[in-house]
Amino acid sequence: MKGIILHGGHGTRLRPLTHTGPKQLLPIANKPMSQYALEDLKTAGITEIGIIIGDVYPEKVKEYYGDGSEFGVNITYIYQDAPKGISHAIKLCKDFIGNDKFIVYLGDNVLRKNLVDYTKKFETSDSDAMILLCEVDEPQRFGVAELDSNNPGKIKTIIEKPKEPPSNLAVIGIYFLTPKIFDIIDNLKPSWRGELEITDALFSLMSQGNKIDYDAVTGWWKDTGTPEDIIHANKLVLDSVGTENQFLIDSDDTINDKVVTGKNTTISRDSHIQGPVIIGKNCHIGPSVRIGPYVSVGDNSNLKDCTVENSIIMKDCTVNAKIHLSNSIISHGSTIEHSDGTHELLLGERSKIKL
Ligand code: TTP
Repeated sequence: MKGIILHGGHGTRLRPLTHTGPKQLLPIANKPMSQYALEDLKTAGITEIGIIIGDVYPEKVKEYYGDGSEFGVNITYIYQDAPKGISHAIKLCKDFIGNDKFIVYLGDNVLRKNLVDYTKKFETSDSDAMILLCEVDEPQRFGVAELDSNNPGKIKTIIEKPKEPPSNLAVIGIYFLTPKIFDIIDNLKPSWRGELEITDALFSLMSQGNKIDYDAVTGWWKDTGTPEDIIHANKLVLDSVGTENQFLIDSDDTINDKVVTGKNTTISRDSHIQGPVIIGKNCHIGPSVRIGPYVSVGDNSNLKDCTVENSIIMKDCTVNAKIHLSNSIISHGSTIEHSDGTHELLLGERSKIKL
């Protein structure tokens, strides 16, 4: 089997964070979110991986993953000129896939349970596709499946972002497919939003009498489209850090009471860290810092005098001020410093501040 990771799209809901790179490289617990997808595929035994890159800094994706050897996989990059839909991206992979079965993994989806069992099930089945379903609170935000009450184990319909959802079962962004999907996509029409939808392709495959299986997701699944989703994903992953599979930490790091600390990081005696927290390498924490719970701090960041909870501070940041940060995302290389009463701000387009 082969794997495809979707690393295109514009990530408009995540601006300004996506003005300087693709959203899938944004870190969750100090690791780019698409790396969870890549490691998940690798754990399931899939090492031939195609990465769809789009027009938002594609060179940063190539720079990070290279030819894949550092991650124990073989990567082929496939360029998508504009985000014309998930089915459009899949269609571009026809030559790469050949006659193999394959898994498409959206690079902004994070899944608690790994893919090993699902992959075995699909590999040995005669199904033409398999989807994974997860119960959600707001099904109108997702592609939704309705099960056939007269036919146990069968799907009745699949609809993209329905105004009146027929169920609360979201189709998550990991699709098990066979090359049959390519002919289906060739005959697909763009939806009202101008995209070739994956839900339309799956529905069409099913309507033509092909066999589509499903399985229920156990544990959590997170689709990280908005800043709130990223902070929530950070919390979910931190809760699992150090426990199993894709959430294992670097061998250089130390872990104590759900606090992971990288090499050469110092924490002053008067600072207090309440896990789950991950702090990268070469950071200086203190004096008078309180961190946690649910905080990720990237490499080479320095924090003084501040309190930080439920937030992500990326690499190379400085926070040197008596402030309390909560539900915040601070991007690479940012600085927050103390001033005497006045605020001096240099903010990127679409920044958001609450004082
Ligand atoms: P979306 O979240 O639907 O789209 P987006 O990333 O452009 O974000 P926004 O709506 O905020 O502008 O995409 C889901 C995933 O699929 C995401 O990882 C990006 C990827 N994708 C592609 O690679 N190519 C595409 O044509 C589309 C639509 C998405």
